[in-house]
Amino acid sequence: MARVIPEPPWWTSAVVYQVYPRSFADSDGDGIGDLPGVRSKLDHLADLGVDVLWLSPVYRSPQDDNGYDISDYRDIDPAFGTLADVDGLLADAHARGIKVVMDLVVNHTSDEHPWFVESRSSTVNPKRDWYWWRDTREGPAGPEPTDWQSYFSGPTWEHDPTTDQWYLHLYSRKQPDLNWENPEVRAAVHDMMRWWLDRGVDGFRMDVINMISKDVGPDGALPDGADGFLFGPRLHEFLTEMHREVFAGRDAELITVGEMPGVTVEQARLVTDPARAELDMVFQFEHVGLDHDGDKWHARPLRLTDLKASFGRWQAGLADVGWNSLYWDNHDQPRAVSRFGDDSPAHRRDSATCLATLLHGHRGTPYVYQGEELGMANSTWGSIRDFRDIETLNHFAEATAAGADPEDVLATLRPASRDNARTPVQWDATEHAGFTTGTPWIAVNPDHVAWNAAAQRDDPHSVLAHHRALIALRHASRTVQLGDFTMLLPDHEDVYAYTRSLDGETLLVVCNVSTTPYALADLLPQAVGAEVVLANREHLPDHDDAVLGPWDARVLRLG
Ligand code: NOJ
Repeated sequence: MARVIPEPPWWTSAVVYQVYPRSFADSDGDGIGDLPGVRSKLDHLADLGVDVLWLSPVYRSPQDDNGYDISDYRDIDPAFGTLADVDGLLADAHARGIKVVMDLVVNHTSDEHPWFVESRSSTVNPKRDWYWWRDTREGPAGPEPTDWQSYFSGPTWEHDPTTDQWYLHLYSRKQPDLNWENPEVRAAVHDMMRWWLDRGVDGFRMDVINMISKDVGPDGALPDGADGFLFGPRLHEFLTEMHREVFAGRDAELITVGEMPGVTVEQARLVTDPARAELDMVFQFEHVGLDHDGDKWHARPLRLTDLKASFGRWQAGLADVGWNSLYWDNHDQPRAVSRFGDDSPAHRRDSATCLATLLHGHRGTPYVYQGEELGMANSTWGSIRDFRDIETLNHFAEATAAGADPEDVLATLRPASRDNARTPVQWDATEHAGFTTGTPWIAVNPDHVAWNAAAQRDDPHSVLAHHRALIALRHASRTVQLGDFTMLLPDHEDVYAYTRSLDGETLLVVCNVSTTPYALADLLPQAVGAEVVLANREHLPDHDDAVLGPWDARVLRLG
């Protein structure tokens, strides 16, 4: 008997497109992308068919971490434009049926935010308790209050001579952590969020939101170990309160997604269970850690069986309750086509479209990161002077100070640096890829002469066209949106295959994540002769219906 599915939320059929404004499009020639630039490219998004634009931070900021260090939540950084530009972007996007999601960075502020300026001024300032201030603790790890290590190298504590205490920063020393234990902090954040919703934004992507609750003891003591700041005991309480204070009554039209490094399936089930009213979905990091050898600076090849085990668990774990986000790329990850695909000329188009098909067929909300729809790849990096990212630069400084050979460190940075995601979007083949008329803040990838939007727009077989088709398929197919997921061939090292089934229809997604050809009849006899819904290599002269060629990806209808 067919399952009766209650009307699902709108975002179960949506695709989100992430814009990193600094690198998207520059309207005024200063080399930095900006809001008028984003507005000028909205037709690119409309043509792609995406439903939501997620804007990485554009708030006023000293730009220590490219805007993830905010000094005024209610103003726009002059590098990006003005509040009027945001209003214009909202109007233009809404006119095209595209919703706009803002980045919400409230685990920390900039050290130049007036809240922190006040907080650090004296131990009795009313805002002192808005941040985490602690005394020196002489321990084995040094004088810092805990042994926590910052995501951007070094300890998470900075000594402040004004009051002879330390403040907490899980990221750079210019990103002090807000103290969510303080109800005034939470109320101020809620108020700011309502202000943006009233202005017309359609939801939030919440930066490292699983770090807002720390495991603080009744006496204010913080424990050693990373468990002290990930998934603290009050996380669910804080999220439920935020939902009640900010989203209740208006959430049907909105979308919320929480970035949660280290999140498990079980935790994600709780956070995204609609009955608990916390968040719509989370970003998990399991699949982007599968090629890490110890840490992000050391890679090992991805084993497809590991990817299947991981995605399979997430699909199963959030099948009846909760919802998945699906992504390869974002502004923190190297480009997927270089990392999991093959960006050599022979295989770049096919591997980019294969990876996209593999991902988009799953149950969940797909996220496309700017340039991913063009098959943008990792860049070429010479010396450390080519890099801009604070995480990359700090790691280089720390490793070389500890005695590592600079060339060895550079060799690890080149494929792994976040700057790979941050080279300007490649609009055309001109000098700066059509990104700016000035000097770009970070060098354009030299491959833009061949890989750009202008070259792909009217090519029916381009990476861009393939993304258009995948997005259209999600919009058209309830089976892709909501169908049950079954992983096939879990032990095969090269071929990724699964079915999606709903109301008597079964779609089979089969992707050859390798250059070894496989006879379809040997692997998946049920696929032989099936109707092709979508494919990435059908038009090629070497295509054979019966053989999965290199990076071949197909969506087939079984019945
Ligand atoms: C996660 C963001 O995605 C990343 O870009 C940023 O550096 C950190 N959070 C700190 O805000």
